[in-house]
Amino acid sequence: MNKLCLLGLVVGLASHSVMAETTTTPLANKNAFISNLMKQMTLAEKIGQLRLISIGPEMPQPQILKEIAAGRIGGTFNSITRPENRPLQQAAVVNSRLKIPMFFAYDVVHGHRTAFPISLGLAASWDMDAIALSGRVSAKEAAADGLDMTFAPMVDISRDPRWGRSSEGFGEDTYLVSRIAKVMVNAYRGEHPGSADSLMASVKHFALYGAVEGGKDYNTVDMSPTRMYQDYLPPYHAAIDAGAGGVMIALNSINGIPATSNTWLLKDLLRKDWGFKGVTISDHGAIKELIRHGVARDDREAAKLAIKAGVDMSMNDSVYGEQLPGLLKDGEITQNDIDSAVREVLGAKYDMGLFADPFRRIGDAATDPIDTNGESRLHRVEARDVARKTMVLLKNDNETLPLKKQGTIAVIGALAKSQLDMLGSWSAAGVPHQSVTVFDGLASAVGDKAKLVYARGANVADDPAIIKYLNFMVTEVETDPRPAEEMIAEAVKVAQQSDVVVAVVGESRGMSHESASRTSLNLPGRQQDLIAALKATGKPLVLVLMNGRPLALVKEQQQADAMLETWFPGTEGGNAVADVLFGDYNPSGKLAMTFPRSIGQLPVYYAHLNTGRPLMPGKPGNYTSQYFEETNGPLFPFGYGLSYTQFSLSDVTLSAKDMKRGGTLTASVTLKNTGKVDGATVVQLYLHDVAASISRPVKELKNFQKVMLKAGEEKVVTFTLSEEDLKFFNPALKFVAEPGEFNVMIGLDSSDVKQQSFNLL
Ligand code: BGC
Repeated sequence: MNKLCLLGLVVGLASHSVMAETTTTPLANKNAFISNLMKQMTLAEKIGQLRLISIGPEMPQPQILKEIAAGRIGGTFNSITRPENRPLQQAAVVNSRLKIPMFFAYDVVHGHRTAFPISLGLAASWDMDAIALSGRVSAKEAAADGLDMTFAPMVDISRDPRWGRSSEGFGEDTYLVSRIAKVMVNAYRGEHPGSADSLMASVKHFALYGAVEGGKDYNTVDMSPTRMYQDYLPPYHAAIDAGAGGVMIALNSINGIPATSNTWLLKDLLRKDWGFKGVTISDHGAIKELIRHGVARDDREAAKLAIKAGVDMSMNDSVYGEQLPGLLKDGEITQNDIDSAVREVLGAKYDMGLFADPFRRIGDAATDPIDTNGESRLHRVEARDVARKTMVLLKNDNETLPLKKQGTIAVIGALAKSQLDMLGSWSAAGVPHQSVTVFDGLASAVGDKAKLVYARGANVADDPAIIKYLNFMVTEVETDPRPAEEMIAEAVKVAQQSDVVVAVVGESRGMSHESASRTSLNLPGRQQDLIAALKATGKPLVLVLMNGRPLALVKEQQQADAMLETWFPGTEGGNAVADVLFGDYNPSGKLAMTFPRSIGQLPVYYAHLNTGRPLMPGKPGNYTSQYFEETNGPLFPFGYGLSYTQFSLSDVTLSAKDMKRGGTLTASVTLKNTGKVDGATVVQLYLHDVAASISRPVKELKNFQKVMLKAGEEKVVTFTLSEEDLKFFNPALKFVAEPGEFNVMIGLDSSDVKQQSFNLL
């Protein structure tokens, strides 16, 4: 009996004679299996496979079971335990005519039961092993809950911190985000896509969602083809090359055409140019939204546009089921339009191993966890280890940090005691009561060696309209009803009795989320007044920042003695913050997104073009590219982050002055830890093409190495550059390297760099 027959038997398909003729390669086996199955499917069953529904109040379970048994649902999302998913799978593989298994998806973005830091934080680790660990643990935990697919990684390049979803992505840089995209897809998959602990990645949001105008969520995207190809598309491509089996389509339009009806995007680019072989999934309700985009008159036209453009599965609407049969009957779409989509859905299920064993990840009821949220199901050690690597030391005057475990420490701020905010947005199956707050983390670190005193100081939001907005679905923000002045006065009193003040300030997690765009990047609520009052006490002031986007912190940077960016650090966040504040871990994170000085500077990103009139340091500024009220440049540049030790970097040495076509050369620097403690930093290599057929950015990250050095130790760090690193998309969208001069810049952030030049012959 060949392998295919075996597969058929396992799922009870043999009786429907889906066995293919003898085939040779795994791909041929898969294709033959799917072709055979499709021959037996009715039109309704085919269209049923294209429907992905959300499990929630919209449809009661008995009705869902009926729909599945009738072959009218292909997969679900938001059902996240084995006992929830088992009856759904049973309805499919026992009660439906063809016994085609369901798949179960969820937004596992930065952890599942255990929350890791938000993605923007993960990126700030610049540590591919740590990022891979977070992805692998997420996959293991989610697969153990009966899930097969994650709507991740989210690799939208974002250069506008007003956009709340900046928190979900890995920042502004094409190279860094592309590297992480690949790492994440591999980590979710693990050894094999069909393994019981594997999750299929559905990369999102294809495409360019991070470039919404003004950072306002769901807004229009209008972009030149060269910028698209050069800066925004590579991370999706990297995820697909790494084997992402799914692609979620973005909600925005691109140069006037919604992604959901964009044939160029979904067919020409994704399928033909990139060779994508997996399933495409619309975002929530996006097919119907084609009407409001103004490209479809009604549901019928929306369904037609989407299926023709190449949207295989529709998320949480019933337009395909309602409209495709009529469209086919009237000859407005072809059987092939439907079949191609069905083929991809079945192919994804095949790759996830579900035809071989539909209960692969759901398991037997007898082995279900006794307590879904049991402590033993968490990965606290991994979460703490990763979280501390994501923290970025922004300022540390007079060695304010690390703190000593002695005396009295004032811990101030609503966020210091918020378990919910620790988890960050899109926290999957994370439960607030299992997360460690900053206060609790500090308390357990000091034990009885020091005294901790607390005051709330300020709410993160006071405006009732904002609170109502953020609490739209569930209570996200809880406020203390006392007058702001009273709370600030209480905090000042507590600070006065202490040796040092740790103020935990920032945003509530819901402020950096979907549909959470901001017109200000200031600390919200009365937190600025709180900081000013704490500063006035004269006590050393440490700001622990929790936020999901770059904030404008000019004033705070002047007031604070030390600042630590901790993002939303996850289940073990409080312990990780304590590790860093007390020096049990020396911070090594580097920003993955530029921190602006003010909101008026936006967009501000390091890889900008020079323009014809750049501001020249030391020269008069008139008639150069700048704002006259503000210094050019950010508050904290991309790639920036301090350590408790100091590092020096030598000049750059190149192995040659010229690079031949197809050749390589090396760029080296000597990195020395000149301080008193061991520490790690990220050596970053940037390139600039001095004169090309199109203006090229002043610098672009092309490689980096995270290096750990003992106090006093030095190391030569060498990068190999090849012609590939010099390539870019020219005006004809050809990926080419043009001859001429290139600047190589190496630094410990994107602004302070050492430079050398070479020529490509
Ligand atoms: C979001 C997606 C998410 C989906 C399913 C949508 O609102 O845009 O990122 O994957 O919901 O939860």
